[in-house]
Amino acid sequence: QKSAHEESLTETLRWAAKFFRGTLESDAGKLGSIYLAEKRGLSEKTIKTFGLGYAPDAWDHLFTAAKRAGIPQKHLLDLGLISANKQGNSWFDTFRHRVIFPIFSVGGQVVGFGGRTLESDPKAPKYLNSQESKLFEKSKLLYGLHAAKNEIRRMENALLVEGYMDVLALHQAGMTNAVASCGTSLTRYQAKILRRYTSRVLFMYDADRAGQKSMMSGIDILLAENLTPFVIILPEGDDPDSFVSREGREKFLRFTEEKMLSFQDFQIRFFRESGDFAEPDLKSRAIKVMTHTIAQIPDRIRRELYLQELSKKLGLTLSALQELLEKEEGATE
Ligand code: GTP
Ligand code: MN
Ligand code: MN
Ligand code: MN
Ligand code: MN
Repeated sequence: QKSAHEESLTETLRWAAKFFRGTLESDAGKLGSIYLAEKRGLSEKTIKTFGLGYAPDAWDHLFTAAKRAGIPQKHLLDLGLISANKQGNSWFDTFRHRVIFPIFSVGGQVVGFGGRTLESDPKAPKYLNSQESKLFEKSKLLYGLHAAKNEIRRMENALLVEGYMDVLALHQAGMTNAVASCGTSLTRYQAKILRRYTSRVLFMYDADRAGQKSMMSGIDILLAENLTPFVIILPEGDDPDSFVSREGREKFLRFTEEKMLSFQDFQIRFFRESGDFAEPDLKSRAIKVMTHTIAQIPDRIRRELYLQELSKKLGLTLSALQELLEKEEGATE
């Protein structure tokens, strides 16, 4: 149940989303729409569906319009749409010269914003988010879920990616079961949400080391919530957006089908590539990690079955792995 204050904050969020969107469509939004269409290849339909907007290179574009619309300054501050200067006596728009991605609740209400710079200015952060609040907790949200949830149910599969642009490019290419964790490492809460719609999650993070590490830890979190993770490793240097934009839908689907790994095969590949299988001490540590992963699975039979798989894949006796697992089970209880 929302308080009256939250109710009016929601109202302000809706107003701001509409304002950013209107700006993108106006003359003041030229740079933004050129960026989205030409640099990022987004169609008008995608831009509309996800309510994308623009904040021009000005200090008080939103602030002035909000005053005119009678929106209390405090609401703008609470939502992080404006920021105060150091002295605290003047205010300016938080989002300037950025394309705006409204972030929706699963029910489709705007709860916050992400904004991306148009240039690759190394000084400015690439993405900014509006302030976190009870309405906007990034760790409890999945970007795109409001648009993806039906398809996730229908396909019994969610495509989990890192960023806004990945979701947009995939939806545009017809993979409308894509959602993003948006920079934060995957949380138990997000996994719980996914579990309402599916039991299978296809992890497709960026093909860099950071992306692979995030998938390594994400696997444990998904398993703990009774989800079965699969992993796709994209070609070096790609993320889902760059891959699907370059290769197109058909190639994307074929690649996904051919390259999908079980979480165990992904782990083995990860450790092998980082040299952790090259000597017994490192290898035994890697095996502990993989057993720890299995220990996250709530169901005992599933734990057993994955342990058997692991013993086959690694050529180790089941009893040795069992001993490890029991230690891990003891540690997680
Ligand atoms: P593009 O460069 O626009 O294609 O973005 P990307 O999604 O590929 O970015 P990246 O892989 O670097 O990051 C993945 C996601 O993490 C982004 O979509 C954002 O949600 C989040 N993120 C990345 N950089 C920042 C940052 O500097 N600040 C914040 N708050 N979030 C970020
Ligand atoms: Mn990344
Ligand atoms: Mn990326
Ligand atoms: Mn990208
Ligand atoms: Mn643990």
